[in-house]
Amino acid sequence: MTEISPSILACDFSRLAEECDTMKRAGADMLHIDVMDGHFVPNISLGAPVIKCLRKANDMVFDVHLMISDPLRYVDDFAAAGSDILTFHLEADSDTAATIAAIKEKGMKAGLSIKPATPAEAVFPFLPQLDLVLIMTVEPGFGGQKFMADMLPKIEKIKAEADRIGKTLYIEVDGGIGESNAPLVAKAGANLLVAGSSLFLADDRVKAVAGLRAAADAAL
Ligand code: DX5
Ligand code: ZN
Repeated sequence: MTEISPSILACDFSRLAEECDTMKRAGADMLHIDVMDGHFVPNISLGAPVIKCLRKANDMVFDVHLMISDPLRYVDDFAAAGSDILTFHLEADSDTAATIAAIKEKGMKAGLSIKPATPAEAVFPFLPQLDLVLIMTVEPGFGGQKFMADMLPKIEKIKAEADRIGKTLYIEVDGGIGESNAPLVAKAGANLLVAGSSLFLADDRVKAVAGLRAAADAAL
């Protein structure tokens, strides 16, 4: 069954805990938390102190997406804040293998993300160590952008390589995901869908979460 990770970037931050609670009640599988440093991406969102507060109010799996230049430097902070899955970018400055090792050392699941211009093959050497690969389907930095359908072959390649080496992992997609393209990404191999705008801006969040999952599962 496809899992759903609502991106809190699209929520009302003045009521963060209540907003996240609506996604728990809607049956979301985890919460996608976007961390941006204004350097790796041209936008600033939130950091470990906010996650630490939210941790006290919400017991869901925290799927933390670091869009920061030096993820290795902050692994301990995000672990202490209560992250369950910590995903960083291959294009960041930190050494990739060392960052994956540091994340696992802290008992978290390790994820590696690639921007639209980075080829699928770039993650292959790291697959055995990873719990999750995140394929960006927009340029990272902002919510509400249009899904890039030309990322579909990349999802297929990563899924094929994971199957080839016998590795079970989350293949996550992020950016412009909604009911219309959920079947496409699921068919390509994604099993974890991030969605910000299409879930938080929906009139009925319960229906939106269930509808997104059903749309993906129907394609399998
Ligand atoms: C973008 C973030 C996404 C974003 C998705 O850089 O990584 O998680 O919040 O938002 P939507 O679903 O609106 O494209
Ligand atoms: Zn994200």
